[in-house]
Amino acid sequence: MNICQTVEEIRAEVRGYRAAGEQVALVPTMGYLHAGHMRLVEKAHQIADRVIVWVFVNPTQFERADDLAAYPRDLERDLSMLRDAEVDAVFTPDAGEIYPEGAETIVETTRLAGMLHGAVRPGHFRGVTTVVAKFFNIIQPDFALFGEKDYQQLQVIRRMVRDLHMPVEIVPVPTVREADGLAMSSRNVRLSATDRKAAIVLSRALDTAERTAKEGGTIAGLRDAIERVVASEPRGELAGLDIVRAESLEEIDGPLDGPTAIMISVNFGDVMLIDQRVVTPG
Ligand code: PAJ
Repeated sequence: MNICQTVEEIRAEVRGYRAAGEQVALVPTMGYLHAGHMRLVEKAHQIADRVIVWVFVNPTQFERADDLAAYPRDLERDLSMLRDAEVDAVFTPDAGEIYPEGAETIVETTRLAGMLHGAVRPGHFRGVTTVVAKFFNIIQPDFALFGEKDYQQLQVIRRMVRDLHMPVEIVPVPTVREADGLAMSSRNVRLSATDRKAAIVLSRALDTAERTAKEGGTIAGLRDAIERVVASEPRGELAGLDIVRAESLEEIDGPLDGPTAIMISVNFGDVMLIDQRVVTPG
């Protein structure tokens, strides 16, 4: 496995693959890898000859410096997991390599970036699209894999690729979960043992919402069902609940009329967990 730190090194690596006529899949991550990330790697192996994993804690998608500083990191462990997964190359650049002195160009999905999670974290999605556009320009992959867990991020990236005619196929990967249903996340290690048990309330709330949708429930009915399940868990506090059209992320009024995304965030102390599900009316 080749570990590259500069744009020049990773480009030379990719040139080698291309010369052999091989297709390349990219898995962008911020490191501190878990089984969710590794599922993306597994899927990447199935669709392309070569797999490149990007490990870069992107400073521009964090609103606060302390949040960026607190982001968990363990590059040695990540590299050993990636070696075991037979990844071909890892790109772990410094921030200065990706954002050269005087960098001022941004990429932004003007509507999608400002809504939902973007409304509470201004600038977050602009940071994501800007860095992902850089990933695509540096590596020029045939495929790039993203988790459905970060549902708005997936839709924002799809829209950017479509709008800017980027020659890459975005491959979504379903959320990988713990045995009890909790979506895997780098943040889960920050939960106390009691909060860890209580955290299954997210997937329970989504199960209930899905049942309500299948039974022909309305948006108000779904909202009510989710709020009731979350309220039954005193340790969790509902921080956000959005029920929107699955592709455009537009708010819906009245009955469900097609694929509908439910995005939920719940705070356990200062740890915010997110989960999502796409449901279709019954
Ligand atoms: P990060 O949070 O490290 O996630 C990297 C990728 O792993 C994302 O596509 C995310 O959706 C996926 N992922 C995380 N948990 C998952 C799970 N339980 N099941 C399936 N996939 C999961 O998302 C980012 O990094 C950054 O914003 C990035 C796109 C790399 C840009 O900096």
